[in-house]
Amino acid sequence: MTLATELAQAIVDPRSYSQREIVDAAFKKIRAEAPLDVAELEGMDPFWVVSRAADIKEVERQADIFHNGDKSTFLSNREGEAKIKLLTGGDPNMIRSLVSVDGQEHRDLRGIVFPHVLPRALRPLEEDIRDIAREFVDLMLSHDGKCDFATDVAFLYPLRVIMTVLGVPKEDEAFMLKLTQELFNNADPELNRAGAEQTPEEALKSLWETAMELENYFQAVTEKFRANPTTHINSLIANAKINGEYLNHRQMMGYYIIAATAGHDTTSNTTAGAMWALAERPHLLKQMQDKPELLNGFVEESIRWETPVKHFMRSAVSDTEIGGKAIKAGDWLMLAYQSGNRDESVWSDPFEFRIDRDPNPHVAFGYGVHVCLGQHLARLEMKILWEELFKRIKAVEMDGKGERTISNFVCGPKHVPIRFTAQ
Ligand code: HEM
Repeated sequence: MTLATELAQAIVDPRSYSQREIVDAAFKKIRAEAPLDVAELEGMDPFWVVSRAADIKEVERQADIFHNGDKSTFLSNREGEAKIKLLTGGDPNMIRSLVSVDGQEHRDLRGIVFPHVLPRALRPLEEDIRDIAREFVDLMLSHDGKCDFATDVAFLYPLRVIMTVLGVPKEDEAFMLKLTQELFNNADPELNRAGAEQTPEEALKSLWETAMELENYFQAVTEKFRANPTTHINSLIANAKINGEYLNHRQMMGYYIIAATAGHDTTSNTTAGAMWALAERPHLLKQMQDKPELLNGFVEESIRWETPVKHFMRSAVSDTEIGGKAIKAGDWLMLAYQSGNRDESVWSDPFEFRIDRDPNPHVAFGYGVHVCLGQHLARLEMKILWEELFKRIKAVEMDGKGERTISNFVCGPKHVPIRFTAQ
């Protein structure tokens, strides 16, 4: 069976994600009527839409059968993928990062940073992160009771945290933010490189230019950290060796780029979405101020609620079965995390924002061997920000309509206008 074209279009079209109700409604129908079926759209290779949480986990659990790197790891059209292969010398992904490699290469690369982002390794950073959080809360309060929480706080605080951990100087943060937004929000004229609507050819060209600009920047980073190694993550990447050899050019650039982009955009979107949820539910702030132990539940629910990574793709290397459906070698699959996080068989009220879910088994960080490398840092930095912010405000509400980014990949709110009262 193939999925109804209008449903397939709704979950692929970047514009749908700017009005979340459209995507939520499409996935609700898909989960009810065709939870694991093939989408066929003009110009794209057909792909299975994996909409239920259990099926998403099952695909991710079998990483030896479902590969990341054999085909594009995110939705792309046939022509775009062919052009990327020409540009990269055969790789279907423009950037060779952890999310686009498999097997031993993935294990070797992941092992370089993994021990340094575990909770115990992050503990010594807590005070620095708290200082950064206080600085951004001060900045918010300096706006005199009104701000765009997305652009004034949520985009900037996780950026400062990750750049501090990576070892990127403050003066380069604006450059990193701009290039990250270009990379993830290429369909959004407000944020893409062209500053306008683009044809698919123009969009690919812009993405390539952004990737090359990032590579140029990171070239100098390798030289700097090889000359003077530090404990920063970029220094670990620059100096890492696998079987006695430094990482090759594409591995190294891919590593710098994923850490410097996925390391803040995801957390920024979640933070902006959490404030949006809070500002629409005035009782929540008081509840958490009275019972600070509710904060972990708020952070976890905001990650499920926002699900900033909308999908990743996998491709099957051999014939198998998932959710009762026969999958053939070479088939392409979309792991629809936003749908998995609204799955009625896991949550009885998936469209409610509830901070008392315990456990909250969301799939927003993915699952299995590729599960988000930065998950502990993301949780820690968000918790610290809310702890610092909740001490300083008495009330918050929306001050107009929020706005979401046009993107089907890593995205979330781009404007969250709020009105707040300081303590
Ligand atoms: C991978 C989500 C924050 C770095 C992923 C994946 C998801 C995700 C869905 C793919 C997992 C899979 O394929 O199973 C998120 C969310 C975040 C967040 C929702 C914040 C709320 C971060 C941060 C960092 C980071 C702060 C910075 C260190 C990475 C890396 C990978 C990854 C390097 C690739 C892991 C691999 O393939 O082995 N993330 N992420 N992420 N994330 Fe995050």
